[in-house]
Amino acid sequence: MTTLTINGKPINIDLPADTPLLWALRDFVGLTGTKFGCGIASCGACKVHLDGVPTLSCVTPISAAVGKNIVTIEAIAQDETGKKVQDAWMSLGVPQCGYCQSGQIMAATALLKQTPKPTDADIDKAMSGNICRCGTYCRIRAAIKQAAGITEVTA
Ligand code: FES
Ligand code: FES
Repeated sequence: MTTLTINGKPINIDLPADTPLLWALRDFVGLTGTKFGCGIASCGACKVHLDGVPTLSCVTPISAAVGKNIVTIEAIAQDETGKKVQDAWMSLGVPQCGYCQSGQIMAATALLKQTPKPTDADIDKAMSGNICRCGTYCRIRAAIKQAAGITEVTA
């Protein structure tokens, strides 16, 4: 038995210690906002926060999450920065199909908590592991800047 702290609550997980965290979150706990995309650390759809660090849950065994504060998309609006990011996402209508977007929001929130006023290069670096097959990258960038309170100067 493994006890994980998920969105502030201790939850007993009766799964082998090498079970990927993504499986535990989705299939055991029922938190399906975190998505399975590739399963091989290549798309970012499964991103959650472990002690604030953006983490690919598809390749993280539950044993590596013991004692850490796991935050998923379901609780990100309880965080001041996460709420700003979600509001900006909704205000700019960022998602298309939506499948990648929880991972995108988790990555963007981690970026803004670390770097409140990111440059384009900061955004490129932080978001490079998150693939969007619908190509919403321009709106993602705009939403990150809106959440950061960065005003774009246009010619
Ligand atoms: S599902 Fe984890 S990186 Fe793609
Ligand atoms: S919105 Fe469809 S994959 Fe990103």
